[in-house]
Amino acid sequence: NAIMADIWQSAMDHAVTVARKAGEIVRGALKDERTVMTKSCAVDLVTQTDQKVEQLIIQSVKEKFPTHRFIGEESVAAGESCILSDDPTWIIDPIDGTTNFVHAFPFVAVSIGFSINKQVEFGVVYSCLEDKMFTARRGKGAFCNGEPLQVSEQADIHQAIVATEFGSSRDPAAVDHIFRSLRNILCLPVHGVRGAGTAAINMCLVASGCVEAYYEIGIHVWDVAAGSLIVSEAGGVLMDVEGGDMDLMSRRIVAANNRTIAERIVKEIVSFTLQRDDAPLQS
Ligand code: IPD
Ligand code: CA
Ligand code: CA
Ligand code: CA
Repeated sequence: NAIMADIWQSAMDHAVTVARKAGEIVRGALKDERTVMTKSCAVDLVTQTDQKVEQLIIQSVKEKFPTHRFIGEESVAAGESCILSDDPTWIIDPIDGTTNFVHAFPFVAVSIGFSINKQVEFGVVYSCLEDKMFTARRGKGAFCNGEPLQVSEQADIHQAIVATEFGSSRDPAAVDHIFRSLRNILCLPVHGVRGAGTAAINMCLVASGCVEAYYEIGIHVWDVAAGSLIVSEAGGVLMDVEGGDMDLMSRRIVAANNRTIAERIVKEIVSFTLQRDDAPLQS
């Protein structure tokens, strides 16, 4: 109804404002030395800026929307639960592309998604170093700095660019699975394979029509909540790596400009996906 729509619009406006503030902090932090800590393994990095930005976002949202819930990457790392309920929930990745941030590789995003009944209602991805604000509201289109976004019209995989990432597992068997999928796709052939080093920006590239598809196994809900809505509102499709509907909590995603390209990617990667233990099957 109209009243709820107003509330969600004001929540989205707030997300844009706080994402911009977070981006300023990220840009400022790039001027100083960054203290790098590790989480699950030697290449799973986190900095004080990740933690500070997440706290800033959560605190500012709590003041305006005290009853809402949160899932934030660094809060989950600190022991909070990662359960997506039907309640209004802010799904936050304070810095998507921490490794890029640590190395000053210039693609770093703040990602904020907002869900109700487990469905993303709006998504905001701020690409801080490009100063691009990507936004989408369900049923109302996707935008970059206010300009409408539209996915690529390409339906021929041979003329596509496909984005993916290598993730943070360095277990040789897991890396083998990644490379087998990648080999299949490269040899189709496709025009190219790319990866921005951030799931959120990879999805904004799909929404912008610069790449036809992005897939990854091992992602989390905070990596994809906002970006997936930006893709679908730009006219793209989301799929599970086995071809069914995408599930936000399943840790795997194919995001593409259209169904033909998405299904082709699924076909090339599915057999290797099934061998991976970071690609949990839904129970
Ligand atoms: C990571 C980035 C990366 C992707 C990983 C994510 P983080 O997020 O999005 O591109 O390959 O799966 O975890 O840790 O930098 O927020
Ligand atoms: Ca991380
Ligand atoms: Ca992330
Ligand atoms: Ca992060």
